Amino acid sequence: MREQWGSQTGFVLATIGAAVGLGNIWRFAYIAGENGGAVFLLVYLLFVLLIGLPLMIAELALGRRGGGDAVAAFEIDRTGSPWRLAGWVSVVGAALILSYYAVIAGWALKYFLGAATGDLWQAAEGGFGGYFDRFIAGSVEPVLWQGVMLALAAAVVAGGVKKGIERINLWLMPVLAVIVIGLAGYALTLPGSAKGVHFLFAPDWSVLARPEMYLNALGQAFFSLGIGMAVFITYGSYVGRNSRLPRSAVAVALGDTAFALVAGLAIFPAVFALGGDPAAGPRLAFITFPQVLLAMPGGTWIGIVFFLLLTAAALTSMISLLEVPVSVACDRLGAMRSRAALTVTLIIFLIGIPSALSYGLLADWEVFGRPLLDTIDHGVSNFLLPFGGLAIAAYVGWRLTPVVALEASDFSGSLSGRLWLWLLRVAVPLTISVILMRSVGVL
Ligand code: PHE
Repeated sequence: MREQWGSQTGFVLATIGAAVGLGNIWRFAYIAGENGGAVFLLVYLLFVLLIGLPLMIAELALGRRGGGDAVAAFEIDRTGSPWRLAGWVSVVGAALILSYYAVIAGWALKYFLGAATGDLWQAAEGGFGGYFDRFIAGSVEPVLWQGVMLALAAAVVAGGVKKGIERINLWLMPVLAVIVIGLAGYALTLPGSAKGVHFLFAPDWSVLARPEMYLNALGQAFFSLGIGMAVFITYGSYVGRNSRLPRSAVAVALGDTAFALVAGLAIFPAVFALGGDPAAGPRLAFITFPQVLLAMPGGTWIGIVFFLLLTAAALTSMISLLEVPVSVACDRLGAMRSRAALTVTLIIFLIGIPSALSYGLLADWEVFGRPLLDTIDHGVSNFLLPFGGLAIAAYVGWRLTPVVALEASDFSGSLSGRLWLWLLRVAVPLTISVILMRSVGVL
């Protein structure tokens, strides 16, 4: 008998833990910053509602119905069906995401420890830019912290669904919510913070004309929610029949979006109050923000708490990504959970080493004109995840009969169910295809 979540709250919090991560804080802030703020936010919200939410429900339903790992979910209607390839792609994709995600999580851990010991604040020479560049240019430290974060995730996953994954999320997610709200509340009291709020909420419509803005908003919606990589298929397979999937998915999408918005309210007002550049790219959280903190009363404390938040949020997402291949190893190879967690983590660690070294030893090795880690991040969020989404939409929307799909997702014949199915069958694939084709210049 497959393990199940201990409670509905545990399931929802673990799923929010999967969704809330670096994507909501580090990535959301810099992508919103680069894409003009408020209008990007609007398009992003639209995508979350019309594409992300229906797909999340579909993933959960597929997982619960399959009652096994991500591959089983696509194979349950016919063994050996070619659809299982979609399952395998998402399992490999989850491992690939985790391999570089762990590197950035490692940066967060390094910064947390640096902030707590005071090491970070003494980084006078070359400022925070110098500190960051020296750190990521090294060959040992980035790999070390990447390894530590993976080891932590492995320890939790080895503990099992209920005793490991559910337990840690049950107490950590409420704590993180309190921290992020506290940070935003503080940032909003800073003089000059209104400019940051203005940036996040006052629209500059001209960015609507930028085609890459749509791709970035779509990629961000997929990445931040965590859809397209079988995480929700896997978490869904531990859900009991009495759970209401649409309601849980709404809670997760709301929680994820609220978290990103509040994190934005913690970062942008502070950045603007002290004259930082919101479009600083991936460096925003690691260079611009610490600079801002140093100039702020009590900033070093805020820094400790902020990087703790970033590290812990990253950890709960890493756990969800790791669970995808681990459940495959347990189901297919009959491996013991702890063994599976250890072996899979080791493989992912090795795959991630080039990413960890992509600004140091491998800095000269550019892939498609960017450092390796940037290329993987861009490719995964903007292409692999949307493709995963297309596969889910196609399977649940078209391969399953409407009756089966509606039943599996707890919608039955309701009006919202019909709307969901229409989104899944038509709107989701159409929007994703158009944006992808435009981005490669076909349309
Ligand atoms: N949603 C996570 C975040 O925002 C990342 C993630 C991506 C998790 C894909 C699972 C699958 O950081």
